[in-house]
Amino acid sequence: MSRATAPRGARPSGWQRVAVIGGGIIGLACAWRLAERGHAVTVFDPDVAGGATHAAAGMLAPASEAVFGQDALLAAGLTGAREWSSFAADLTRVGSEDIELRPHATLLVALDADDEAALARHARHVERRHCPVERLAARSARRLEPALSPRVRAALRLNETAVDPRVVARALAHAVVASGGVVVPLDVEPDVRAGRATGVRARGTGGVRDGQPTGAAGLADEGRAYKADVVVVAAGWASGPLASALAHPVPIRPLKGQVLRLGATPGALTHTVRATVRGREVYIVPRPGGEVVVGATSEDVGEDPTVTAGAVHDLLHDAIEVVPELAEAGLLETTARLRPATADNLPLVGPTCVEGLVLASGHGRAGVLLAPITADAVVAHVEGRPPPRAMEPLAARRLCHKEHA
Ligand code: GLY
Repeated sequence: MSRATAPRGARPSGWQRVAVIGGGIIGLACAWRLAERGHAVTVFDPDVAGGATHAAAGMLAPASEAVFGQDALLAAGLTGAREWSSFAADLTRVGSEDIELRPHATLLVALDADDEAALARHARHVERRHCPVERLAARSARRLEPALSPRVRAALRLNETAVDPRVVARALAHAVVASGGVVVPLDVEPDVRAGRATGVRARGTGGVRDGQPTGAAGLADEGRAYKADVVVVAAGWASGPLASALAHPVPIRPLKGQVLRLGATPGALTHTVRATVRGREVYIVPRPGGEVVVGATSEDVGEDPTVTAGAVHDLLHDAIEVVPELAEAGLLETTARLRPATADNLPLVGPTCVEGLVLASGHGRAGVLLAPITADAVVAHVEGRPPPRAMEPLAARRLCHKEHA
């Protein structure tokens, strides 16, 4: 799509007033791309980037995370990963943070014969989708990543990278405002009248707090309602309940992920490492400053945000099994957040059966990877253009034609 942006302060013809519910990486990415094209955008979130974005490891790893039978997600992920280069460059240009994508490959490692067979199947699966994979014997893998356990007996190397979602979210929040958008720390829901979204309204007893930008955001009705041409629901797992204004249920449910942050010697690990230990998947994502993210659980346990002793134990055990020197790292943080999961494991992006109501949620484990291409799809919809082709199977309109549990 054309990347032409409107001059700051100018509104192009056909501009729309857009309310974005949710200030995680998806909502902020949509808001920024809309604002830089001259739309009047307000993001509503009482806890910007405090949800799944706060926990996410930030791997841009469609091939490593590819699952048999989910080709549409893989296709969107591969296009989404390519989209990240220009997204990161544009975001860095706007200002507050360097979002440069550094070369930083992924090693999928095998600890036993079953793992080796699984890696061979995985390699064939992604190669059929034109993803290059390098097969490594144990010695070559350890030469590339000396911190790997001597138990590692083979590996695949994929040319995939990672970003720090906390840094990206900070940069996006800055970029939204720098592009003329507004971020309001308010809990809102879509206002749907006569089958059309007309804006948002404050939830519960909420209102605009302590003179926050009520006037600038255009909130009316004593600070409780905001009129908009388009309402984008990008509220993570809460998007399901929020979009209940639709004529049918929106099947987005919480999928709990527990994640650890360790403090290791900078440079001790230079690849993202993924393995399966005792049937549990673990990933280890190093950041340049020495932080190492270890994740993650995938628990279908409803709205429970508890960090559990068992999950922390398992993640530490499995990470140390693969990279023994992590036993010496500091335990900096334990985090649990809820990802937005869908029944068919595909995100829900685009217009719904309620006029003016757009969904940008249900990204499951791929929210960071798909943030830029989701923003492209939402901008395309707001401007009356078709979305990127890879996003077509993810269209939220598929809900209008199906019965969902
Ligand atoms: N994409 C990694 C995760 O959701 O755990």
